[in-house]
Amino acid sequence: MKIIHAKNYNDLSRKAANIISAQVIMKQNCVLGLATGSTPVGIYRQLIDWYNKGDLDFTNVVSINLDEYVGLPVNSPQSYHYFMHDTFFNHININPENIHLLDGMNPDAVYECRRYDQMINENGGIDLQLLGIGLDGHIGFNEPGAAFDLETHCVRLTESTIEANKRFFKKQEDVPRLAYTMGIKSIMQARKILLVVNGENKADILRKAFLGPVTPEVPASILQLHNSVTLVADEAALHTLL
Ligand code: F6R
Repeated sequence: MKIIHAKNYNDLSRKAANIISAQVIMKQNCVLGLATGSTPVGIYRQLIDWYNKGDLDFTNVVSINLDEYVGLPVNSPQSYHYFMHDTFFNHININPENIHLLDGMNPDAVYECRRYDQMINENGGIDLQLLGIGLDGHIGFNEPGAAFDLETHCVRLTESTIEANKRFFKKQEDVPRLAYTMGIKSIMQARKILLVVNGENKADILRKAFLGPVTPEVPASILQLHNSVTLVADEAALHTLL
């Protein structure tokens, strides 16, 4: 694993955006695996800035998002569909046909998840997968205990994740209890992984993920077995790892 130290959140955002930008420049029709959450917001902002300056072209880029809540319509501001368009896609020249998100309104979980796996395969797999990490060690919505050999599937969110994500909703009861997520197997098949971690509150789980045993109890620990992981993290998140 390559560790890139960032001084602070802005520095982290720029360094991680640089890695994504290099990928897009080197392979114009690359497949980017994208994540939501607070951590990537600065990255998307930086990429938009470079796009506006004419330094980046997303015409042929394919995007595949990691996960989506079950039961939220695409126009719900809390859906990941809405988040990705509002935060990123609406501000760049990506072709709408190249944007792939799970359909959280499809009640047929088996069909929806198989459709997604097939779509990933048809696109030739993911070149660069952007990931954040949850306080409980989740990646995507693969919560502690998730089997390592799963592709896209439906999950029940843990109390820790519901608690962490309630900040995006009016009240905790509004946080959906189910989500569709790419599985650990799908994530591990990405050719490169870019993990971004920010803040003191992630220091403990980051240490467990990279210095502890590889175990489903800490889903991110599987990344120890991936041969191309770049971690970009700020000092506060990194201090217990080094
Ligand atoms: C988001 C996702 C989650 C987040 C994680 C960290 O698509 O899959 O695994 O990456 O919960 O979220 P933040 O960045 O908000 O701390």
